[in-house]
Amino acid sequence: MRLSVIGCGYLGAVHAAAMASIGHEVVGIDVDESKVTALREGRAPFFEPGLPEILTEGVASGGLTFTTDIAAAAGAAVHFIGVGTPQQKDGYGADLTYVNAAVDALLPHLSPGDIVAGKSTVPVGTAAVLAERIAKKGATLVWNPEFLREGWAVKDTIDPDRLVTGVPEGSAGERAADILREVYHPSVAKGTPFIVTDYATAELVKVAANAFLATKISFINAMAEIAEVTGADVTALADAIGHDARIGRRFLGAGVGFGGGCLPKDIRAFSARAEELGRGESVAFLREIDAINLRRRERAVQLVISSLGGSVHGKRVAVLGAAFKPHSDDIRDSPALDVAVRLRGLGADVVVTDPQAIENSRRVHPQLTYIEDRDEALTGADAVVVVTEWDEYRRQLSPEHAASLTHGRIIVDGRNCLDPAAWRAAGWEYYGMGRP
Ligand code: UGA
Repeated sequence: MRLSVIGCGYLGAVHAAAMASIGHEVVGIDVDESKVTALREGRAPFFEPGLPEILTEGVASGGLTFTTDIAAAAGAAVHFIGVGTPQQKDGYGADLTYVNAAVDALLPHLSPGDIVAGKSTVPVGTAAVLAERIAKKGATLVWNPEFLREGWAVKDTIDPDRLVTGVPEGSAGERAADILREVYHPSVAKGTPFIVTDYATAELVKVAANAFLATKISFINAMAEIAEVTGADVTALADAIGHDARIGRRFLGAGVGFGGGCLPKDIRAFSARAEELGRGESVAFLREIDAINLRRRERAVQLVISSLGGSVHGKRVAVLGAAFKPHSDDIRDSPALDVAVRLRGLGADVVVTDPQAIENSRRVHPQLTYIEDRDEALTGADAVVVVTEWDEYRRQLSPEHAASLTHGRIIVDGRNCLDPAAWRAAGWEYYGMGRP
């Protein structure tokens, strides 16, 4: 099928390349000239495992093209909207500027029978408003949220857990759902659940899923806070409750908490939308989820301060990790960088290292010192803080080797990803999050 994808960020670029890899003819459209140039040359504008391969393949075969010209969308059977919906500058709500601009630009190029598939994460009620404008062109809007995780985005797009499509009532909706089934044919054929529902449910599925994941993380981080005043071990606690299949162990990783371009802004936008709908109290707990999450960053900072005898001023602190999670170079709302910036603000001599995210970090926080080489970053440090659980730090760094480089023997494990016994045995003072 001929498809257009409007917006070539994390979501759109992966979607375009993944759709080409399953045999569609895809044009990716973005207003950012430099992004389009990179993609055209088969270069991914961000770090995402597996993306360069399918990008190069698609571009080389001619089935995947990129342009800044929205007119290139004309003739596609389905137009995916994958632009960003960041947090508003002056509030908690989602900024829909880019979604509205994408639809405005696309409208003149739509033909009767076309499908517009919204993938961006939007406040519930957005699709109903956009649908009317799109229907005037004889086209049909569907809401088809995306559940990809950065670092696994290619796999999550080609082989998702489920597909959700919100459609209008009646035959136009049925036809649109059939077209989406055709788009995702390989997944549908292998039995991936394909859920057809209304717009509001489809929009809500996405924010509800992210709100639930954020809640799970903050729940275990709240338990970490209780563990800290009782001498309990939150990791053992998570293992034990995680054996209950109704609870499950995944997303019970206590530490410096969640960040990134999705979870933090999505729970805030959900709260703001619920307030508008007069149901603020229904998700009032999300404010608490946000607050617990942010407290954990400060906790990591306090651990470094207390371990260094009450002040970090003039002390060299090696911060291992800058990305909001491993397998990503994304630093949006990264707890890791937040910890680094706070320590630096307190007068520490902070050295940050990360296998992928240094370039992005430097752009946003030029005041920090960055060292690419992990061992060089560790050299002479009075304390070490692990804030992103890259394999380079949790598996490939032995406590003995680290001890041969640093000045002090203090390690703060902001992700509870190290073996405390091994580090202590090598002479380190080990501090975890919610661990004795
Ligand atoms: C999240 C969701 O997991 C995806 O399903 C969703 O599609 C995506 O947002 C989106 O809305 O686009 P992502 O932001 O890539 O994906 O990252 P996650 O893997 O969910 O991690 C989010 C944050 O939670 C990271 O900072 C991670 O370190 C943290 N986390 C995760 C924990 O602190 N503890 C855990 O146990 C798990």
